[in-house]
Amino acid sequence: MITGVFLLLWTAVTIGCMQSGEGTDRAQTVVVFKHGKLSGDGRVLSDLLRDFERDHQGVIIREELLPADSDRQHQYYAMNLDGGKAPFDLLGIDTIWAQEFAKAGWIAPLDGFMTPAEQEEFLPGPIEAATFSGRLYAVPWYVDAGVLYYRRDLLDRHGLEPPRTWLELAHIAKAVLEAEQNSALTGFVWQGKQYEGLMCVTLEVLRSNGTDLWSGDRDRAVYGLRFLRETIATHRITPLSTSMADEESTRWMFGEGRALFMRNWPYAWSLLQREGSPVRGKVGVVPLPAFPGFASAPVLGGWMLAMPNSSTHQEVVGELIRFLTSSDAQRKVAVELGYNPVRRALYADESLLELRPFLKDLYPILLAARPRPVTPYYLLISQAVQPEISAVVVGRKSPDEALDAIRRRADQIMGEQISTAELDRS
Ligand code: GLC
Repeated sequence: MITGVFLLLWTAVTIGCMQSGEGTDRAQTVVVFKHGKLSGDGRVLSDLLRDFERDHQGVIIREELLPADSDRQHQYYAMNLDGGKAPFDLLGIDTIWAQEFAKAGWIAPLDGFMTPAEQEEFLPGPIEAATFSGRLYAVPWYVDAGVLYYRRDLLDRHGLEPPRTWLELAHIAKAVLEAEQNSALTGFVWQGKQYEGLMCVTLEVLRSNGTDLWSGDRDRAVYGLRFLRETIATHRITPLSTSMADEESTRWMFGEGRALFMRNWPYAWSLLQREGSPVRGKVGVVPLPAFPGFASAPVLGGWMLAMPNSSTHQEVVGELIRFLTSSDAQRKVAVELGYNPVRRALYADESLLELRPFLKDLYPILLAARPRPVTPYYLLISQAVQPEISAVVVGRKSPDEALDAIRRRADQIMGEQISTAELDRS
């Protein structure tokens, strides 16, 4: 009996040590890595983590997956980081959260792990998004920018070129749908569900009309919102189901050969081109269209790695972040998963470009991509205005009314936050 109790105690103490990493060596360090599900083969990242474990005797990395949806991940992180005892040591964050998480004191500065000279090796946009009050709080992991996918075979068949303006896109889609007489084919799919993806699409349309959602020329903003609705209601090139569509559902639809055009992130490219894909070899990618007189305005997206302040394994986590953002790891993820590197030099690396020629076309688009407002209050604003845009998409509100509400809400939030910040300072 006594031996039994002793054994039980011994086991409990040993497991306790293993979990808290307080063993005599790193053999007992368990690092919990929480991140959204990546598309494609999950083994690519797991293999990298096993490589890291092999080089770091006894460190165990436990991957815990969240759904891919950015807003749902944000909700999980906000709940678990607030309170200072996050049940994970490393997390994948959307580029738009770094400011908020840093300001809240949820994530630790990482400049100790990455010197300013090393930061220079990364694309500038994501580094700016990860820097708060002069310190780096996250390291870019992969980068995104909105692009237009099109069915090259169908445009060729009708002697058409990919569109440069949004109205051209509508005309081409109508002409091809009319000529094809294929009831399974639709014209243009985009992310219209009420979530962050809809914010990206809306910003791209409005900014490519020389304005913005919360500021800038009002009439051009209303026109942009109206265009989104009209793709569904007037031009009838976009199915009604788009008001519930996200990246993956549009990728499925386009991937099954059921759409002529699709707005999406670059990750879709390698999935559309893989063996067995019904549209393999039939797809092209170009910059997103603009309105006449304005330039294409892709939104900058992407994900970063960050460490909760509460992690008790800061050294190992810092090393892991360096490893996952190293040239070798970035190359592997680019080749095998189609995620875009954050290191500039890789876009000039011939051996990588040979395997992924797509990166060459993408590079100028990534450099031109514009961030969403880099402020700790971005999510507050985004979540307040998403329902207004969604109401336009489904035809419940006029673009005029919605834009007024959007600008009112954004001003109100910024006003409230600025006065809170003033109170904080006084
Ligand atoms: C992609 C982008 C991310 C964006 C999200 C919206 O994951 O990388 O930045 O917020 O899509 O759905």
